[in-house]
This record gives sequence, C-alpha cells and structure tokens, in this order.
Amino acid sequence: MASTLALTLNPAFRVAPVRRRTFGAFVEHLGRCVYTGIYEPEHPSADADGFRADVLALTRELGVSSVRYPGGNFVSGYRWEDGVGPVEERPARHDLAWHSTEPNTVGLDEFMAWAKKAEVEPMYAVNLGTRGIEEALDVLQYANAPTGIALSDQRAENGHEEPYGIRMWCLGNEMDGPWQAGHKTAEEYARIATEAARLMKQEDPELELIACGSSSSSMETFAAWENTVLTESYDLVDMISAHAYYSEKDGDQASFLASADDMDHFIDSVVATADHVRAKLKREKRIMISFDEWNIWYQHRAESRPPSGDDWPVAPVLLEDTYNAMDAVVFGNLLISLLRHSDRVASASLAQLVNVIAPIMTAPGGDAWKQTTFHPFALTSAHARGEVLDVRLSSPRFENPRFGSSASGDAVATWDEESGALSVFVVNRGADEELALDADLSSFGDLELVEAVTLHHEDPYAANTRDAPETVVPAANDSIALEDGRLVGSLPAISWSLVRLARR
Ligand code: AHR
Repeated sequence: MASTLALTLNPAFRVAPVRRRTFGAFVEHLGRCVYTGIYEPEHPSADADGFRADVLALTRELGVSSVRYPGGNFVSGYRWEDGVGPVEERPARHDLAWHSTEPNTVGLDEFMAWAKKAEVEPMYAVNLGTRGIEEALDVLQYANAPTGIALSDQRAENGHEEPYGIRMWCLGNEMDGPWQAGHKTAEEYARIATEAARLMKQEDPELELIACGSSSSSMETFAAWENTVLTESYDLVDMISAHAYYSEKDGDQASFLASADDMDHFIDSVVATADHVRAKLKREKRIMISFDEWNIWYQHRAESRPPSGDDWPVAPVLLEDTYNAMDAVVFGNLLISLLRHSDRVASASLAQLVNVIAPIMTAPGGDAWKQTTFHPFALTSAHARGEVLDVRLSSPRFENPRFGSSASGDAVATWDEESGALSVFVVNRGADEELALDADLSSFGDLELVEAVTLHHEDPYAANTRDAPETVVPAANDSIALEDGRLVGSLPAISWSLVRLARR
C-alpha cells in the first residue's frame, strides 16, 4: 500500500497575497537569449521591429510578469550608451563575461519595445562593476526623466518621447562573486550601492531599488555580505537579491529532488539577516527579497563553457541546457518554495527566458518549442490567484546525502476568496514510491473539482527536444477525486501536480 501524504488546508492559513512579480524572468545578453532568441529580424515570424512573434506568443503563454535586463554577468562590463541611437552607429564590443562579441543591435529602447509587446514589466540592472554612480544616474535619466534635460531629450531624439517609468532597478549584479567584472568586498559594494541608491532616489523617490545579496547561499561571505550591505544601505533600498541554481550532481538524485529545502533555508536565512539589521538599526521598514535568478542549471556541462582564445562569436550556443521530467518537478517545487515565502519574496526572476537555461527554445530561422520546465511555470502563473495559503503536511521522508532527511511531499495552495478558486500545487519528490494524497479541504465549504493535472514521466530523464517537444507534458490525473471534503488520489514518484477546485 502507498504511503500517505496528508495535507490540511484552511483559508485562515494566509501567508500573503499572490504577487504577480513572483513570475518574473530574465533576458541577458548571453548566448542566444537576445539574438535568435527574442530578436531575429530574418526569422519568418519576425515583426517590423525584428522580434520573433513565436517567442512573444510563448512568453505571454508562459505568464511572465516582469523581465530583468540586460544581465547578469554581462551588465558588469556593459556600456548602456552603446545600445541606443542609430543602430548603424553602435559599436561592437567584446563581452568579457561570456567571451563573446556584443553587436549592440539590441539595447534599452529595443528591449522596452519588446517588453511592451510581451506585456511584461521591465526590471533594469545598472553596471556597478566596471562603471559607477554617474552611469547609473545617466541610464536612469535616459529611461525615466521627462524631456527637457540632455539624456531624456536624447531618448526623444531616438524616437521615444514618453519616459519609460521603469520602477525596479538592480544595483549591479552578483558583486560578491570573484568572477564578476569589478568584483567588490562587502564594504566596497555597500558604499557604492548606497551612494548610487541615494542619488537614484533623489532623481525619483518612487523607484524600487534592489541591492545585490549573495550569488548563492554557499558563498563563504553569505549572510555577512547581506549584513554589511544592508547595514549601510537599509534606508535607501527596498529589496536584497538572492540567486540560486540547482542540478543533479554526481548521480545524487535524492539530494537534487530535495533542492527546495535549500531554497527554503536560503530565504529564511536572508530574512533573518535583514531582520537582524532592522532590529539593530531600530527601523520599522522591512527589506524584501528579489529572488532575481533561480533555475536548474547544469553548470559543469560543456554547454555552459564560454568560448576561449581568439574566438569571440556573436550569440554563441551557451548554457543551452535540455531539461528532463525530473528537472521540471524540482523546478515546480522551487516555485512552491517561492510562493510560500510570498510574505518576504516580493519579486523573482526565472533565469533565463529563451535558449539560455530557458523554458523556451528556438532554432535560428526555425521553430520554437517548450522545455519541460515551461509547464509548471505556466500553470502556476495562470492559477496562483488571491492569497497564498500555507499547507500543513504530514509526509513520509526520504534520506539524501545533502539534507539528511527530507519530506517526500511538498505543497502550497492559493485561495481566491472572491471567485472561490482554490489551487493546490503539490510534488512527490520521492523517487521510489507513489504517494496516496489525502487533503482535508472541509474548511472551504462546498467545493467541486475543476481539474487535476500531473507532470510525470516513467523515465525521469525523458526530455522535450526540438524533434519531440511533447514528450513530457502535464496530463489529467484521473485518480484524484473530491470525496466528502477530502481530496484523494495518487501522486506518482517524481511528479508535480496542480489540483484546481471551485466553490459550488
Ligand atoms: O544566468 C546566468 C548567469 O548566472 C548570470 O549571468 C549570472 O548573474 C549568474 O552567475
């Protein structure tokens, strides 16, 4: 007999409202994310601005709310001015972060045009690596100032009279990482980020500023970095960033399946550190988290290695990971973790959107298809509505080298009081056995089951490819039923499910 995953849900177990910004993504000038990803003027589906209509349609279908741009490691060596004005006058430059040539055909104005078509909120990162406060202010004025000053008039001359009104600004990228151009100590970064923030808020007090936190929770400086940076910048910044990538390492499937335990711990630790600074400084305001890079990323594989030597290609194939069914389950579980922390995670960006560790893949001149990870993202974005509810669970456990012991089941729910829509997102992270689901929903009154879908493949390594893009897709889970206020059914080993219910 299958072990039971018992869930208790209650509309009173409220965490926070679902934040649309949880469903952000990321477009970096890296590999084929921009060129032959979102932008390919020669493509049969390209619109008048050179944007691939197939990618725009998939971006909307994915349910992306905001997009971080232009990097990533790329931004720490980027001169934003190279990317504005007449395209034929823009310089090509070496991008040292990814050992590539950046033609600068796409820059801020093109990205903003794309963001409008994709119906996403832009999030812009400034270069605090090789550049500084002045350039951060310049790009802010170019983007957001009403005409009448030099930089906003330049924007108008370039065909964009109206200010863009970009609200979310990242103060650099991963400045704690020794690989970052212009890498800084916590003290050095705290100074420049604070001074940049002070002037940026003088320019526009409505901005939401994001200080760089740690590029992973395994950094030696983790937590001390956040403490130093926030102690200095607390009154001027709104969020601190967190980045995390997961992958199966050395065949350790069990630890990989439990990756969301690390994300939970990471978020809890950043919250604890931010609140320590709050207590120390005796402030009312709370700092929120911008989890602005998260995903599955097989960093050790050849596809993640930049070119080298004399080869400086434009838009090389880089970080084009192919995702399997297990990756999608872990990925869906990471989204569960982000959602259940909606009280403190105010924004998140899946890294990245197209071709580069992405849910959407393209062939230059050819078709676009969905990776396995597309599905849990699209379904969660579409059906997480109203309030996030914490789910009390009693679950069997499984042993794994990284965390010792982890719960086989994990879940979060959302409840939209007004429409009466309840969505339950649940994973079976155990590799060995199916779980019998038994969820007590009696406190919601009279509900009906709308649909239950499960993403699972008997081969956890089965993937979606260009030739077989529908290998791993969510399918109806007919075992799930609602019986006297209890949701029952079975969840196969290594699976992600969404169960939708509605008030009768
Ligand atoms: O998303 C890929 C890279 O991962 C980004 O450029 C960098 O910020 C992170 O290390």
